[in-house]
Amino acid sequence: MSDLVVDMKSARKVFRRRRCDKPVVALCDLSLAIPKGEILGLLGPNGAGKSTAIRMMSGLVTPTSGTILIGGYDVVEQRPEALSCVGVVLDRARTLYPRMTPWENIQYFGIMKGLRDTERLRIRAGEWLDFFNIAEVADRPVNDLSMGTKQKVSLAVALAAEPRVVLLDEPTVGLDVMSSLELRKAIKRMAHEEGCTVIMTTHQMDVAEDVCDRVCILNEGRVLALDTVRRLLDVFAFRAYTLTLAGSLTEEVRTALSGLGQVEVREKWLDGFGVSHSGYTVIDIDVPDERGFFDVMGVLELAAVGVESVTRREPCLESVFLKLAGEEDGSFRQPSYA
Ligand SMILES: Nc1ncnc2c1ncn2[C@@H]1O[C@H](COP(=O)(O)OP(=O)(O)O)[C@@H](O)[C@H]1O
Ligand SMILES: [Mg+2]
Repeated sequence: MSDLVVDMKSARKVFRRRRCDKPVVALCDLSLAIPKGEILGLLGPNGAGKSTAIRMMSGLVTPTSGTILIGGYDVVEQRPEALSCVGVVLDRARTLYPRMTPWENIQYFGIMKGLRDTERLRIRAGEWLDFFNIAEVADRPVNDLSMGTKQKVSLAVALAAEPRVVLLDEPTVGLDVMSSLELRKAIKRMAHEEGCTVIMTTHQMDVAEDVCDRVCILNEGRVLALDTVRRLLDVFAFRAYTLTLAGSLTEEVRTALSGLGQVEVREKWLDGFGVSHSGYTVIDIDVPDERGFFDVMGVLELAAVGVESVTRREPCLESVFLKLAGEEDGSFRQPSYA
């Protein structure tokens, strides 16, 4: 038996609307092999197919083709066994009954999952309610709670049943900064301390960078990258520089630089104090490989532009994503990793 908790092979989803001449390929042959205790982020813009992937794993959407095994069980062929391993939290607390209290929701979903040991359920639920600091609202109707609290309740409900996999769709959307931080902490704890496998979608790259061990970047249903956050950042690390240059740049130099990579020019002029002609230009340049930096310096030397400072910009997942999306359009060269 494999130790993969989630094993998705070439999962594809095509939505066919009635009288719609063009079917929508929401997800195009997605394969994911996810071990115990990993936090995998599904990233991408709206319409990328993130929710469709989560819905397929949670049995809410049937794949058009491909297979999805959860805990070794096929989500379509062995649905009850597969889904008994899964806890799902949809965005904006849509997985809760709003008129029931958090505690009633926990009991209801526990019974639905076939949990007979109510004492254990009570203890586990109590631990998570305490962890989220929401024990005092456990007997209030969910409707009366803030969105952040509802989202924590949704997680406590899912976690009380001790799932092997938790599926989260946009868990931090609509949360204030504090609630978002607490939720991220909880997600890390349930994966790294409890060994729960977490698959979460987000379009917030900073959240993914903070929380995820590995990310799958999707665009229009296709995978742009599937790698650890660290490796993705490393691959792009040597490419981004900020240069401060003396004076302004001629059109010729700008054109030459644009041919070497993605360039953003910010001119800064000092005014007042009788300094009419002193100024400097800051450029952010992203070159496609290590050689690119030396090419940039060559252009500047040839044009006798003074270089006052050079700094390497720390890459962030957001810039990695934008570059990968740019490469899709053919506006940037392919990265050098597989
Ligand atoms: N039930 C549905 N019927 C038809 N098209 C759908 C349905 N659900 C999603 N889609 C389409 O599939 C694509 C992916 O959607 P979705 O998975 O919701 O993306 P994301 O969550 O990344 O924003 C979109 O083009 C969307 O319009
Ligand atoms: Mg979505």
